[in-house]
Amino acid sequence: MKIDGIAYRTIWRGADGRSVEVIDQTGLPHALRIRSLTTAEAARDAIADMVVRGAPLIGVTGAYGLALAAQADPSDAALERAAHMLAEARPTAVNLRWAVRRAAAKVLSQAPADRAAAAWAEAHAIAEEDVAACAAIGRHGEALIRQARRGEATVNILTHCNAGWLATVDWGTALAPIYAAHDAGVAVHVWVDETRPRGQGAALTAWELGRHGVPHTVIADNAGGHLMQLGQVDLCIVGSDRVAANGDVCNKIGTYLKALAARDNDVPFYVALPFSTIDWSLERGADIPIEARSGREVTHQTGLDDEGMLRTVRLTPEHSAAVNPAFDVTPARLVSAIITERGVCEASAAGLQGLYPEAIAVGRT
Ligand code: MRU
Repeated sequence: MKIDGIAYRTIWRGADGRSVEVIDQTGLPHALRIRSLTTAEAARDAIADMVVRGAPLIGVTGAYGLALAAQADPSDAALERAAHMLAEARPTAVNLRWAVRRAAAKVLSQAPADRAAAAWAEAHAIAEEDVAACAAIGRHGEALIRQARRGEATVNILTHCNAGWLATVDWGTALAPIYAAHDAGVAVHVWVDETRPRGQGAALTAWELGRHGVPHTVIADNAGGHLMQLGQVDLCIVGSDRVAANGDVCNKIGTYLKALAARDNDVPFYVALPFSTIDWSLERGADIPIEARSGREVTHQTGLDDEGMLRTVRLTPEHSAAVNPAFDVTPARLVSAIITERGVCEASAAGLQGLYPEAIAVGRT
C-alpha cells in the first residue's frame, strides 16, 4: 500500500542483505519510523513488544527472525533454540508458530552451509504467499460488500482492531475487501472501533484508511451496538488470530460483543483470514490460549498533548487492579461466513474442510 504516494510493505529484507526492516507500529499514528532488526533476539522483541503485530505479520517476522538466526549460527542447536524463542514470543496467533515451524523444517533439511540462504528464501516465500492470500481475500470479500449495497448508497462497514495492511505484509485481511471495493468505485464508509486498551483501531486502522483515502469514523468500542440498532451498519468485517477447526474465531478482545450485537440486529458478521490462521489441531475455540497482557495497558494511555508532546497518563486510581485479556473467542454460530483466499465458507468444520479438503482434522501445529 502507499504512504504519501510511496509503496510500502510492513516488512522487507534490508538493502545490506543481512538485516530485516519493519515499520515500527508503536510510533503510529504520530510518527512513521522504520526499524532495522539484525538478530533473532531483536525479531523476538519486536514481536513481543508489538513493534510488529497482527497475526500474519508476526508469522512473517518470525520466519525472517529465523533467517537472522541462521546467518549468525546455522547449527542444529542454535536454530532449534531460535525457533523455540521466536515461536513463543506471543501465544495466541497461530500464524507465528506455523511460519516459524515451516521455516525451521525447511532450513534444518539443508546442509549447514546452505541454511542461511534457504532461510531467507523461505521467509521471502512466506511473505509473498501472505501478500497473494490477502489480495485474494480482498477479491472475495469485495463481492460481499457489493451484495450488502442498497442501490447506490454508501456501504457502512464496522471493523474492530487493526486487520489492515499493517497487520499483514500488504493489503490486510478484514480491510482488504474494503480497499478492493473502494478502489473499484464502491462508496464505502468504515466505523472504526477504537479497540481499547491498546487502541489499534484508533491509531492504526484510522491511520491506514486515512492514508488510502477511505472515508471512516472512529467510534468508542461501546458505540457499535447502538449504531447497529439505528441501521447504520450494513455489515461487520473483522480479522482473526486463530480459528479452530470447528469455525470458532479468536480475535482481538471485544470482537465477541460485536458479534452478539450484530446477530441481535441481523447485521452480517464476516471474519477474514488466510489459511495460516486456521489451527486444524484445535477442535474448538475454548482451547485457544488467550494472551494476558500487562494491566498497565488498561490503566495508562499515551497520546499527543495540545503542544504536540507525547505523554503517558494514568486513567485509574493508583491502586485499582486491572486485568488485560488480549483476545476473545466468538462462537462459530455468531459468524455469518469466513472469507479466505480460497473463497467464502460457512464457519463450521464442514465449511472450512470444503475450502481446504487437504487439511486433516488434527495435528497441523
Ligand atoms: O494484538 P494484535 O494487535 O497483534 O492483534 C491482532 C490483530 O490485529 C487482530 O486481532 C486482528 O483482527 C487479526 S490479525 C489480521
